[in-house]
Amino acid sequence: MRDILPQEQPYWQQVRRVSEKVATDFGYQRVDLPLVEFTNLFTRSIGSGTDIIEKEMYSFSTKGGERVSLRPEFTAGVARAYIQHGMHILPRPVKLYYTGSCYRYDRPQEGRWREFYQFGCEVIGEQNPVLDAQIIQMGWRIIHQLGIRNVKVHVSSIGCPACRKNYRNLLVHYLESKKQKLCIDCKRKLDTNPLRILDCKEDKCIQVRTNAPQSIDHLCDECRIHFKELLEYLEELGIPFELDSALVRGLDYYTKTVFEFFSALGSDDSGKSKRNALGGGGRYDQLIKMLGGEDTPAVGFGLGLDRLVIEMKKLGVRVHKEPNPRIFLAQLGNFAKRKSLRLFESLERAGIMVAESFGRGSLKSQMKIAGRLGVEVTLILGQKEALDGTVIMKDMASGNQEIIDAGKIVDEVKKRLKK
Ligand code: HAM
Repeated sequence: MRDILPQEQPYWQQVRRVSEKVATDFGYQRVDLPLVEFTNLFTRSIGSGTDIIEKEMYSFSTKGGERVSLRPEFTAGVARAYIQHGMHILPRPVKLYYTGSCYRYDRPQEGRWREFYQFGCEVIGEQNPVLDAQIIQMGWRIIHQLGIRNVKVHVSSIGCPACRKNYRNLLVHYLESKKQKLCIDCKRKLDTNPLRILDCKEDKCIQVRTNAPQSIDHLCDECRIHFKELLEYLEELGIPFELDSALVRGLDYYTKTVFEFFSALGSDDSGKSKRNALGGGGRYDQLIKMLGGEDTPAVGFGLGLDRLVIEMKKLGVRVHKEPNPRIFLAQLGNFAKRKSLRLFESLERAGIMVAESFGRGSLKSQMKIAGRLGVEVTLILGQKEALDGTVIMKDMASGNQEIIDAGKIVDEVKKRLKK
């Protein structure tokens, strides 16, 4: 877990601004969800054999004895909220977006933190692949608009429970024949969660799976048509994609479409398996029913904001920075300090950014700060000016000073700034 200091904030603000704008432009509404949910919600949704559930959740018991966890992701919470608030009565599809921190107890390294931030969108209540395409389009658009060009979408279909069962049997049959070549972890997964072997980062397991049967070759008719239509929509949208049969994702709730976003530029080229995805998502048509809701198809994506910021920095993306104040307000003496507080407020209300150093007493040290900030004008309010109802306006470039009536100072400053 780490601090995000002020100098990094312009990147974060840009990421938040762009992602929220795209979401609202596409008709999504914001939801804020609790950071803590019952552990059970995540275990049931994400799947007990996954790394997130087996190794990465921050779980604890409350004083009331309930088992709860810090959210490792948002989709399970969104599905819970959808059911709990009876959103099935709303016009379909229901389009929701969210942003906030997530927690996974992983080995920290660049691009992988224990506290990280996600932005995501979920569209609930439609099964047409056009929505899968639109969800991919949104994620891609956000990344692109942040100045991360050359984004590629890796896409696959893992089918529905029916075709996945057949595929799983084929895969197990193949992997059993290569068992000796697998790492210890994957040998264990062969019995518990064989699909996860496709996701292993060990070189020898990567070797084994190059000839493994691929899920997209074993889809049922419905899933194959869904996937084919999705690819046609992506082509229509001009979104560059790559079929990636090794894409298994780290969560069990997916059905049919799965995808991840990668940047071709700026990431290390040591092979896709070592590259971090900027985001990912997919369809999860069974999740809401499995959690006790009606049979409701859904699809969504989540972006890793920390990784977007890293990528923007690597690529040297220019971000919007707040302008520096052009006015400094200096004061001398207690009475003047009190008046300065009021004057600061009048300027701030008029939309004029003012720097100050009210904690300092000496005029010399305040003028030094004004000089360092490079302001154009310094307003000086001493004991005499405070009593007279005036303010000294000093032009920092020429050093010229004028005495201005305190009631007219806002207008005078505005005039000066226009020049
Ligand atoms: P995910 O792939 O687990 O999917 O996470 C989405 C993104 O979060 C990743 O692509 C990555 O950018 C970022 N991320 C994940 N773990 C970390 C970490 N330890 N440090 C930094 N960034 C990280 C989900 O969470 C799904 N809920 C996405 C989704 C939404 N599927 C359907 N709807």
